[in-house]
Parts: sequence; structure tokens; C-alpha cells
Amino acid sequence: MSALVACAACARTFPLTSAVVECPCGGLLEVRQCPAEHGRRLRERFDRRRVRDATGAGSGVWRFRELLMPGRVAPVTHPEGNTALYRRQAVSRYAGIEDLCLKHEGENPTGSFKDRGMTVAVTQAVRAGASAVACASTGNTSASMAAYAAQAGLPAFVFVPCGKVAAGKLAQALAYGARTLLVRGDFDACLRLVREASQALGMTLLNSVNPWRLEGQKTIVLELLQQRGWDPPDWIVVPAGNLGNTSAFGKALREALDLGLIRRMPRIASIQAAGAAPFQRSFRGGFRRRYRVEAETVATAIRIGDPASFDRAVRAIRETRGVVAAVTDREILEAKAVVDGAGIGCEPASAASVAGLRKLVRQGIVKKGHAVVAILTGHVLKDPQTVMDFHLGASRRANAPVEIEASVAAVERLLSRARRQGHGP
Ligand code: F0G
Repeated sequence: MSALVACAACARTFPLTSAVVECPCGGLLEVRQCPAEHGRRLRERFDRRRVRDATGAGSGVWRFRELLMPGRVAPVTHPEGNTALYRRQAVSRYAGIEDLCLKHEGENPTGSFKDRGMTVAVTQAVRAGASAVACASTGNTSASMAAYAAQAGLPAFVFVPCGKVAAGKLAQALAYGARTLLVRGDFDACLRLVREASQALGMTLLNSVNPWRLEGQKTIVLELLQQRGWDPPDWIVVPAGNLGNTSAFGKALREALDLGLIRRMPRIASIQAAGAAPFQRSFRGGFRRRYRVEAETVATAIRIGDPASFDRAVRAIRETRGVVAAVTDREILEAKAVVDGAGIGCEPASAASVAGLRKLVRQGIVKKGHAVVAILTGHVLKDPQTVMDFHLGASRRANAPVEIEASVAAVERLLSRARRQGHGP
């Protein structure tokens, strides 16, 4: 098995153990593996490991290690992955798709999909001799990096936009012991600063421009294909901000097809918030131009105006005959209430996938008979404030708490009202 790290822009290559995470030319790096096995044999190897993983000991990331990080490594792992695929009638009905599964990446150890990329990128940072790690974040990357850096015993510096990070995420970064810098500026400013600071000060950058992050995030797709017996869905729908996931999904699908793990290419639908939709704007213009916008959305995780993995994501959409859509904050919050109300729960950015799917079905782009997997990227408790604001607000789906006297009669009144209505709020 051979492998290397290569620049997509200038074609320069680096050895696997190199500490480099960005090409000096400014281009994006990618890891290229050449596994010794392919097709049925590789599928069977992954499937054997999955059976053993049922004991609870295994990682849903490192199970696919031949496609991530070749050679003998000692992974920094919690473990992570092994997230469920849910079917819920209420969500299916809302989206207008009968064959709909929700893959809940909020079930990862720090409550978001970021753990899949972080276990690989921190393992690589340790292998390359890092002395400190750093990232810019809208919250989840910093929570994840803080946890994995703590496990690896590395000092961690997180750069987050002051006042724009959900409470659960900020609390995690502090709890796991990362040095947390509240930058006066938005996420795009944080990313510019951390890129410059990590270059100048010799910290290892762990944003998704780091190609090892994407290797780990590929396993969202590999795992969902495996859960479906390697029968690909027609569509995979994913929320999009900095475009790391969209890029990783494209790479995973390309490799899965090339290696004969699957026989047909699913299509990617990448969903942005309307107030932070530079990629969707580019898509509408056939990707002839790259846009940068001032981002604003209730879904703070994807409040990003200048996505770093733009070029890789364009390739992912083109190669999968994918689409990019945008949904309003209202649509996001309504879809979130449906996912939450089905007993699953997710953070606002995650619900963009369900809101986007509903829109694409109504536009006739995704057909009612298609098989769809929508990704929920983060846990409902990441952003409790948005949940409270919604349920204390005016939406007909709002479920405000009720203050009562400490008496059975007061409870009875509410119970009989609930019975008359026949269902919950
Ligand atoms: N969903 C959630 C919950 C996220 O936290 C993010 C990104 C995305 C979707 C978008 O994924 O960037 O790969 O397109 N969060 C990053 C962070 C930016 O810093 O936590 P993407």
C-alpha cells in the first residue's frame, strides 16, 4: 500500500509523515492512498471489523483505516462514529420522502461529526511531532479539537467569533481545557488569523483545510454505505458551511466507486443557510465565480461567508451531479422543530439538511420515490438558547413550559386538555 500528500493546485507532493497541512503555494492538500485490496474483499474486511465493533470497543472511523491513514499508527481515539440511521414517519412526511434515513452525527463523543476528522488529524499531528494545535471555529470544531488535544496531551488554542458561539460548544472548549480566544470578528476573520498565527508561531492548524480532517470525515459516507449493505442511496443531503464535509463526501464517494465498494454514484445535495450562502450563489452561476458574503444566520455553526474548501467542494458537486440549495432561518427552525419533536433532536445547522430536502422535493429535483440519507451534524444540546427562544416564541410548533400551582387539580386541567387535543403540542 502506498500513499502521499499532494497539492491539488501545484501538484507538489509531501511524505506522509510531513507536518505540512497547507501547501506553500496556497493550494489545498489532499491525501492519496492506494489500498492493496478493493471490491468485495475490502468490503468484507470492513464488515468483519464492524461485527467485532458490536462489542462497543471499536471506532466507526478507524474501521476504514486503509482508506484514511496507511501504515502502522497509534490512533488518538475516543472511539467515535458508529452513529445510528433513524427512520421517523413525522420527518419523512415533512420532507415528502418515504425512504428517508437520518444519520445522527450528534451521537459522536463531543456531540458533532467533527470528532471523525479530529481523531485522524490529531493522530497525524502527534505522528508529525506537533507541539501545539490550533483552529478557528463556529464552535463544534473547537469543542472536538479541545477534547482530542486533551487526550493527546497537546496544548490547544481555539479562535472563535466573540458572541457568536452557542453556549454548549463554548462550554465544551473551556471544560476540555483549551485556551479559548474570543476574537472580535466573524468566523472568516478567525480563520484568517489562525492560519497566519499558526504559520508564524509553529502551531499545527486543525481546521478542515488540514487534509487529514477530510480523511476522517469521509467515514460518515463510508459508514452509511456499510449500514445500507453497500447499496448507495439516490441522495445524500448535508448542511454546508466551510465545505469540509461536502468535499469529504465527494472524495469518499469517488474512492468508493473507484475501489468497487459501490457500483453507482449517489448525488450530494449541499444545503446552506440563505444568509450565508456563497456556495449556493456560485452553483446558480455554474461555479463560474467564487463569492464571499457577510454571513448572518440563526444557525451559527454555518455562519460562514468565505468557505475555505470551496474548490474541493465544487469538484464534489460536479462529480456527483450534485446540487446546492439555500434555506431561510424560518425553514431551518421549522425543520428543527420537526426533527426535535420526533424525539431525535439536532442543532439548528443540522436541520438545514431536512429543510433543504423538503425544498428540493417540492422543486421536483429530489423525487418522492428516491432513497435519501440526510445528515444531522450536531446534538440538540449544543445550542439550548435557540431551543428556548423558539419554544417561548410565536410559532405554532412552540411548546412553552407552563408554570402551575403545586396541586393535582392544576395538573388534571392540563392533562384533560392534552387528551382532548389527542396529541402533544
Ligand atoms: N453542521 C454543524 C453542526 C457544524 O458545526 C458545521 C461546521 C457544519 C454543519 C458545516 O460543515 O463546514 O464542513 O461545511 N462547523 C465548523 C466549526 C465550521 O467550526 O465547528 P462544513
